[in-house]
Amino acid sequence: MFSFYILVFVLISPSLQEAVVNRNNQNTRIIGGHTAHISQVPFVAAINVEGSGYNWFCGGALYGNQWIITAGQCVNGATLFTIRLGAISLTEPDENRVTFSTSTFFLHPEFNTETLENDIGLIKLRMPVTHTSYIKSVNYLALSKLWDNTHVYVMGWGQTSDDNGTLSDDLKMALVTTLPNEECKVIFGNQIKESMVCVDGQYNEGACHGDTGSPLILLHPRGVTEHVGISSFVSFNGCETPEPSGYTRTYLYNDWINNTTKNN
Ligand SMILES: *[C@@H]1O[C@H](CO)[C@@H](O)[C@H](O)[C@H]1NC(C)=O
Ligand SMILES: *[C@@H]1O[C@H](CO)[C@@H](O)[C@H](O)[C@H]1NC(C)=O
Ligand SMILES: *[C@@H]1O[C@H](CO)[C@@H](O)[C@H](O)[C@H]1NC(C)=O
Repeated sequence: MFSFYILVFVLISPSLQEAVVNRNNQNTRIIGGHTAHISQVPFVAAINVEGSGYNWFCGGALYGNQWIITAGQCVNGATLFTIRLGAISLTEPDENRVTFSTSTFFLHPEFNTETLENDIGLIKLRMPVTHTSYIKSVNYLALSKLWDNTHVYVMGWGQTSDDNGTLSDDLKMALVTTLPNEECKVIFGNQIKESMVCVDGQYNEGACHGDTGSPLILLHPRGVTEHVGISSFVSFNGCETPEPSGYTRTYLYNDWINNTTKNN
């Protein structure tokens, strides 16, 4: 048993860097899951990122009326963001969609591209967006540390299988369960820090390339949404493996988000 875990650890340990290394061919999937309805996820943002010489795609979440919470990987090296709010489809005409361009972002000062610690960034829209039935802020930043073995929602436009590198045209979401960090360390090793949380779906459900930056949401009664995580990494062995996917825990960054959005 022990040697099996060691083997798995050795094979899989480079995985945290995968989402960074591979960002040219899109970032982190939703495997499994179902197509979301915009009324369930009016905060979700599709982000096309332009860097110097290459482009990539990320997800994010509207916070307040002028800020998008996303991953550090999604803003690091960026020069321009094109952000779509209010629609589930990336391409179909939708009168509720609004599209913004901006180049203003804040990367967490301690973001580490190798360990993916502090993988969080904020994007500021040029002007406040009007809330509608299709465009609304998440209700709360994480109210406390996320419990283990809790049901939360993952979502994103990421690729829906390992073989098909195309983004999903429709936003997918899936119900997954938070893993104790000790359990996640068995798979990913000591790269798993307190500031990260792993989630595990039924079968192989979880995140994939293109989902990076998308929120992990704890749903309260009456549709109240708590932003508890940010999609950060998947297993080096691919998204369709039953291995968990990794998220930045929001609650440790509430002060940074609060300060950055208040002071800029
Ligand atoms: C690849 O995925 C895209 C988006 O989900 C889909 O439209 C397309 O049909 C898929 N291609 C293949 C060969 O399965
Ligand atoms: C947020 O601002 C407060 C008050 O200025 C400061 O004490 C605190 O260190 C800041 N925290 C972060 C994470 O920026
Ligand atoms: C942000 O900071 C203000 C004080 O500067 C505080 O009243 C508020 O509760 C904080 N909000 C969050 C989400 O931490």
